[in-house]
Amino acid sequence: MTFLDRRVPVLAAPMAGASTPELAAAVSNAGGLGFLAAGYLSVEAMAAEVSAYREQTSAPVAINLFTPQTDRTTELSSQISRHREALVATAARHGTEPGASRFDEDAFTEKVAWLREHPVDVVTFTFGPVPPEVVSDLQAVGTLVGFTVTSHQEGRAAVALGADLLVAQGVGAGGHRGTWHVSDRPNGADTDEVLTDVLGLGLPVIATGGVAGPDDVRALLDTGAVAVAVGTLFLAADESKAAPAHVAALTDEPPREALVTRAFSGRWARALANDFTRAHDATAVAAYPNLHHLSRPIRTAAARLGDPEALALWAGSGHQRAVTGPATEIVNRLAP
Ligand SMILES: Cc1cc2nc3c(=O)[nH]c(=O)nc-3n(C[C@H](O)[C@H](O)[C@H](O)COP(=O)(O)O)c2cc1C
Repeated sequence: MTFLDRRVPVLAAPMAGASTPELAAAVSNAGGLGFLAAGYLSVEAMAAEVSAYREQTSAPVAINLFTPQTDRTTELSSQISRHREALVATAARHGTEPGASRFDEDAFTEKVAWLREHPVDVVTFTFGPVPPEVVSDLQAVGTLVGFTVTSHQEGRAAVALGADLLVAQGVGAGGHRGTWHVSDRPNGADTDEVLTDVLGLGLPVIATGGVAGPDDVRALLDTGAVAVAVGTLFLAADESKAAPAHVAALTDEPPREALVTRAFSGRWARALANDFTRAHDATAVAAYPNLHHLSRPIRTAAARLGDPEALALWAGSGHQRAVTGPATEIVNRLAP
């Protein structure tokens, strides 16, 4: 059985800063399932994305939220200040200043309240646990609730919270690793390994991370995934809002080195190396989203200038196989 009865068991993974309703709808209309990414959006912008998606497809609505983190602003204030100080010169080269250090919960409570009032088909949470009533309240309005997990232990914790499904994310995944605690150093388990580790928990599992083509999709389905979520390859879709300089860097020749860094946000994420990571990896600390807010003006300026050297070049291990074009073609190429 395919996940939510899709013809193609390929999902466009949620990608805050890159996913659009157009991308999600195109993937759904191609027979897969698109995800909306609510991360960094206001509740109004999230609501607008849900309705834009619904205008373009009758497929199920799936959306992803970041869970609130521990506020480490006070505990790490001197290290955060040091990191900000180090960013000043980089920011100046891009005609801007680092942002102010700020902790926030990304309008989590408001987003959940909106989703209870306006039910969707699937909600997944990334970056850790939510209060159990968040899960049960969404389920009460008919929504399936999932959690991104990177280990057996996190999978068990998601089961204890009453999850309906798991998203098993491996080390090859582009962007943030969905570890459950802000200071956790991500493990080195690949997607097949994380998938195997959580299959026994009895929930349907979506596998994600490092998919480079249909062989990888098939292998993960053969292992037992109900569907496979692909991120990086969809960054190059016409419908993605990833910065063009980011998309171009995915296929740079010679290929850029990849690394896991918290320099951009205060949470570990897989990216391609650039001047920013070389200059700012060392001073970064586990303060999310404080560091995200510090680097944001620099990333915004770099996107405007088309400069890949100060962008967060999130990339999964299959990044060299990214091909620009309509999302439908990407789905067709990935179909097992
Ligand atoms: C640009 C970018 C943004 C991402 N944003 C999110 C997000 O908002 N929520 C989330 O759960 N995962 C996010 N991820 C991780 C993806 O959902 C997924 O786990 C990952 O892309 C899969 O690996 P792949 O990139 O190798 O296909 C993001 C990944 C990328 C590349």
